[in-house]
Amino acid sequence: MRAAYLVEPDADRPAEAIRVGELDPAPAPDGWVEVDVRAGALNMHDIWTLRGVGAATGRPHIIGSDAAGVAEGRDVIVYPVVPRPPDGKIVPHAILLPDAGHGVLAGRIAVPPGHLVAKPAHLSWSEAASLPTAWLTAYRMLFTKARVEPGHVVLVQGAGGGVATAAIGLAAAAGATVVVTSRSPEKRERALALGAAAAIGSGERVPQLADVVVETVGPATFEHSTRSTRAGGTIVVCGGTSGFAAELDLARLFAREISVHGSTMGTLAEFEALVAFVAAHRIRPAVDSTADLADVRAQAARMLAGAAFGKLCVSLS
Ligand SMILES: NC(=O)c1ccc[n+]([C@@H]2O[C@H](COP(=O)([O-])OP(=O)(O)OC[C@H]3O[C@@H](n4cnc5c(N)ncnc54)[C@H](OP(=O)(O)O)[C@@H]3O)[C@@H](O)[C@H]2O)c1
Repeated sequence: MRAAYLVEPDADRPAEAIRVGELDPAPAPDGWVEVDVRAGALNMHDIWTLRGVGAATGRPHIIGSDAAGVAEGRDVIVYPVVPRPPDGKIVPHAILLPDAGHGVLAGRIAVPPGHLVAKPAHLSWSEAASLPTAWLTAYRMLFTKARVEPGHVVLVQGAGGGVATAAIGLAAAAGATVVVTSRSPEKRERALALGAAAAIGSGERVPQLADVVVETVGPATFEHSTRSTRAGGTIVVCGGTSGFAAELDLARLFAREISVHGSTMGTLAEFEALVAFVAAHRIRPAVDSTADLADVRAQAARMLAGAAFGKLCVSLS
């Protein structure tokens, strides 16, 4: 079976660490379900794995946590968190499929029973494969952690990222007023087309203070996030593309009674709710591009360059 895998990590040139070739499928644990993968998507998590950081085990190690395909005659999307966590308890028990030794960027994979959700018919394979990591993370940030409601102002930092484009689409569909920041005029334009009401340059003054800020960028935007949150508002953090050590103005935090939440991935119930929400609102995830699996290195390089708008996908059809 064709697969994208890692043999030797490369801290400096992670995209170069990806190999694509034929691998024998590993024996699936008893009771797991086989999926013929049609498309997958990349995440920053894969880049960390390729750098040699994280819990990935075994060599060769198949990368990837996002996949959609066909299982037992049904079009499905894979829920990528194992073992199946108790409701609402993502951490500390959760681990992604590739970190448990079961990456999904391969022609045929096996997943635990109950980890398959029906693919909404209006989504392409790449759009469906975009949902498991970035979109699930954005869903939990917005609706479980920040409790976004119609009329809320939601500020999304770094408009082009997978989580950011997901947050724009989901918050707009939920009736929020979405403001985005981006360093790129082109990405600002594209964010408006996704449903954002306003798009400003990174660090620029917001038109309205936000009820909720979606933070995925880290130190490059965190000070702006606290400056742009209304009294009593919420900042939700799921990552730090520009680093992990941000300065925090504590006076602003307590004087405005701003809440800061960490958030990671989501439960199976949240994934099912996300897929149902996407189907009900006929949302189409922003896909930057889809390449054949043979060109997955170029997709990873595009992610590292920060050039993408939306998800970087690969086709295994
Ligand atoms: N905790 C979880 O469960 C979870 C799940 C998924 C992702 N994550 C994390 O979330 C973060 C975002 O991941 P992603 O895949 O959505 O997106 P990404 O490809 O990592 O990039 C997101 C955005 O960051 C912005 N950015 C990067 N460097 C910047 C800088 N120096 N100044 C200003 N903006 C900068 C860019 O925005 P512009 O070019 O538009 O300015 C880019 O579009 C990563 O750290 C990832 O590891 C965590």
